[in-house]
Amino acid sequence: MNRETVLAPLATQLQQFDQLHTATLRRFGARTIDLSYPNPRTLADDRPYRALADLAATVAPDALRYSPFGGFTVARRHVASVLTQHHGIPYHYRDVILTPGAAAALNLAFTSLFTPADRIMLITPCWMDYPLYLAHLGLHRDLVGSDPDKRLDLDAIERAWTPDTRGVVLSQPVSPTGVCYRPDELGALAVLLARLGVAHGRPPLLINDETHRDQVWAGPQAVSPARFYPHSVSVYSYGKSWQMQGQRTGYLAIHPGHPQRGLLRDRLTLAMRVTGYCAPTALTQHLISALSPFTPDLGPLADLQQHARSRLSKAGYDVIDATATPFVYVRTPIADDTAFVRRAADHAVLVMPSRLFHEPGYIRLALNLGGPDLDEALDVLTALAGGEDA
Ligand SMILES: Cc1ncc(COP(=O)(O)O)c(C=O)c1O
Repeated sequence: MNRETVLAPLATQLQQFDQLHTATLRRFGARTIDLSYPNPRTLADDRPYRALADLAATVAPDALRYSPFGGFTVARRHVASVLTQHHGIPYHYRDVILTPGAAAALNLAFTSLFTPADRIMLITPCWMDYPLYLAHLGLHRDLVGSDPDKRLDLDAIERAWTPDTRGVVLSQPVSPTGVCYRPDELGALAVLLARLGVAHGRPPLLINDETHRDQVWAGPQAVSPARFYPHSVSVYSYGKSWQMQGQRTGYLAIHPGHPQRGLLRDRLTLAMRVTGYCAPTALTQHLISALSPFTPDLGPLADLQQHARSRLSKAGYDVIDATATPFVYVRTPIADDTAFVRRAADHAVLVMPSRLFHEPGYIRLALNLGGPDLDEALDVLTALAGGEDA
C-alpha cells in the first residue's frame, strides 16, 4: 500500500472533526463551549509567563544566537538534572536533544531510529497523530488496545507481536485517558519486552511519551517506564506545564543505560539537521534554564477534574478513572462516538470523539474552562446521557 493510501483515511477523520469544530464556532460564536483541543482559557500558574517576559526584556543579542543542534548546553544540563531526579537514572546533557515540542521529538525518533522494514506497536487509545507520523514516514503500525480500565494489556501486546516489531510507543501519563500506569504494570511490560526481544533477536525500542508528566493532579507522580527498561527514549513537551503549547519547546532523552547510547545521540542530532527541525527558539531554551526545576500549580486543575468527574458519574456516564492530564475520558451512551459528538455540537459543546485516538466508543473532554461555562457543558452532556437526543 502506498503512503498516500494509508495517510488519506487518517487525515480525513482529523479534517472532518476540524470541519465540525469550525462550523460549530461559526454557528454559535462566543456561546460555544470548546472542550476539544487542550487550550486552557485561564492561566493556572503565571510564573512561566513572568519569566518569559523578564527574559524578553533583558536578553542580550548574543543569547539569541543559533544554538547547537541538540540545544544550548546549559538548558540541556538542566533537563538532564531534572530527569536524573525524576527517572532515578544519571542522564548526561548529551543524552538530551532539545526539540520544537513533542511532535518534532516524536518525528525525529521515528525517522532516525527505525527503518521502513520495522513494525511499530502503538498502545491505544493513543495520542491522535502517532499513526499519522508513522504512516507519513512509511513505517508499519500495529495498534493494540488497552484493557477495559485503559491499563496495559500485556496478553494483547504479546499476541500482536511479530518478528519485525522493533518499537513500542506509549504515553505515561496516558493521553487521552489521563491514566498513570503503576510501577508493577511498567515492570511487567519491561520483562515482557525483554523476553520478546530475546526471542526476536534484539530488544525493541520503547518510545516513552511523557508529555503530561507534570500534569498529575491526584495521587503520586507518574513513574517513568524508563526506570524499568534501558532500551528507551523519552519525549517531553513544556507546552503543558508552562501552559504555552504554541511556544513549541520539548526534548528527547536517550536512556543512559541504552547499549548504543552514543549511536542514538549521533543519529538524533544529525536528524535535527537533516530534517530542518532545528532547535526550539533560543528564548524558550533560556526559559528552560530560568525555570528549572518547575512544578506547575495543579490545584485549579484538580478542582475542575473532581467537579467534572463527579457530575458525569452522577449523570450515569462510565468515566475512566484517572489522575493526570486535563482530560476526562468517558464512554458514550451510543456506540457511535462521532454521532454523539455531533449531538453535543448541536448544543454548542465541542468534545472529541475517541475515534481520533484510535478506538471507538468514547469522548474526551479537555477541561479548558470552569465556572458556569463548564456547568453548562455538563448540563448538555447530562441531558444527552440517556443516548436520546436532548
Ligand atoms: C501525548 C502527546 N504527545 C505529543 C503531543 C504534542 O506535543 P507538542 O504540542 O509539544 O508538539 C501532545 C499534545 O497534546 C500529546 O498529548
